[in-house]
Amino acid sequence: MKPVLKKILLGVVGVLGVSSLGAGGWVLMQVRAFDESMSKTYDTPAPKIAASKDAAVVARGKHLVEGPAACSSKDCHGKDLAGGNTVVMGPLGQFTGPNITGGGLGAVYSDAELARLIRFGIKKDGRSARFMPSTEVNWLPDDELAAVISYVRSVPNSDKANGPLEFKTLAKVLDRKGMLVIDVARKVATGPVELAGKPEPTAAYGRFLAKGCIGCHGENLSGGPIPGAPPSMPVPLNLTPHDTGLKGWTYDDFDKLVTTGARKNGKKLDPFMPIENTSQMDEIEKKALYAYLMSIEPRAFGGR
Ligand code: HEC
Repeated sequence: MKPVLKKILLGVVGVLGVSSLGAGGWVLMQVRAFDESMSKTYDTPAPKIAASKDAAVVARGKHLVEGPAACSSKDCHGKDLAGGNTVVMGPLGQFTGPNITGGGLGAVYSDAELARLIRFGIKKDGRSARFMPSTEVNWLPDDELAAVISYVRSVPNSDKANGPLEFKTLAKVLDRKGMLVIDVARKVATGPVELAGKPEPTAAYGRFLAKGCIGCHGENLSGGPIPGAPPSMPVPLNLTPHDTGLKGWTYDDFDKLVTTGARKNGKKLDPFMPIENTSQMDEIEKKALYAYLMSIEPRAFGGR
C-alpha cells in the first residue's frame, strides 16, 4: 500500500473511528460479524487455469503484473514478488504483502488455486484473503490471468520470510461499514464477477482498466476529496468530460499526463497520482482508458 493510502486510512479513522468506538456493544457486534465472515469457507470452484512457460505468455504476464494489475508495487508484493514493505497503519494494524515466489506461498498454491485467489479473494483453505485487492483485478479474463500466473511462476525463488499482517478492531469495523476492504471474498461475493474481452483500444475495455482509478477518483470518476482523508491530502481531479474535468483534452494530452505526470500546462502532478503504474501501460490500454473517460457522463468536479 502506498504511504499516501495509509494517510487516507488514518483520516477515515479520525472521522469515523472515534465515534464508532464510543459505542462498545455495537463495536463488539461488528467484530463478531467480521470474525464469523472471515472463518466462513467458500466452495467457489477454482478456475481451470494453468501456467505456461511460453516466453510470449510470460512477457504478457510481466506487463500486467507491473502495469495495470500493479502486483509488483513496492508496498504490495514487491518488484521481485518476494514480499513488499511493511505498511504500518496506526490503529488499523499493519500489513505486508507476502512472498509469492516458489520459495514462499507460490510453492503452496496450485495454478488454479492462485487463479481463484486473484479472481475471488479466496485462499487455498477456502477462506477469505485479507486486503488483497481482488476487486480491482478480477476482470482479467482466463488467458490474461494465466499470463499473470505464468509470470509469477517464472520469477526466481526467494526464501524471504513474510512480514506481519495484522488488522485491529478499528479495521474490522471499517470493513463492516464498507469503508475498507479487508474481508475480500465477502466483497467480491456482493457482485457479479465480470470478465473483460480481448484488449482493444475501446471504451468497453477501458471501463475495466478504470476499476484501478475509482478508489481515488471516485465511483463516478468526477474526483473530489476522498471521504475521511485529511485536508493535507492531494485531491483527485475530475476525469469526466466536463468543463471542470477532461473536456477538451486530446489523447496526446492524456498520454503525456499518464506517462510523465505532467499536465497540459506543464505542471507536474502530485506523486499521489500513481504515475509509476500508469506509465507502464501500453498504447492499447491508454487509448482504451481515454476512450472510456471521454464516453462517460460529464459530471461537475466533486461528485466522486
Ligand atoms: C492513489 C490515488 C489515485 C489513483 C489510484 C489514480 N489517481 Fe489520478 N490523480 C490522483 C490525484 C491526487 C490527482 C491530482 C494530483 C494533483 O493535483 O497534483 C490525480 C490526477 C489525475 C489526472 C489529471 C487531471 C487534470 O485535470 O490534470 C488524470 C488524467 C488522472 N489522475 C488519471 C488517472 C487514471 C486514468 C487512473 C487509473 C488508471 C488514476 N488517475 C488513478 C490520484 C489517483
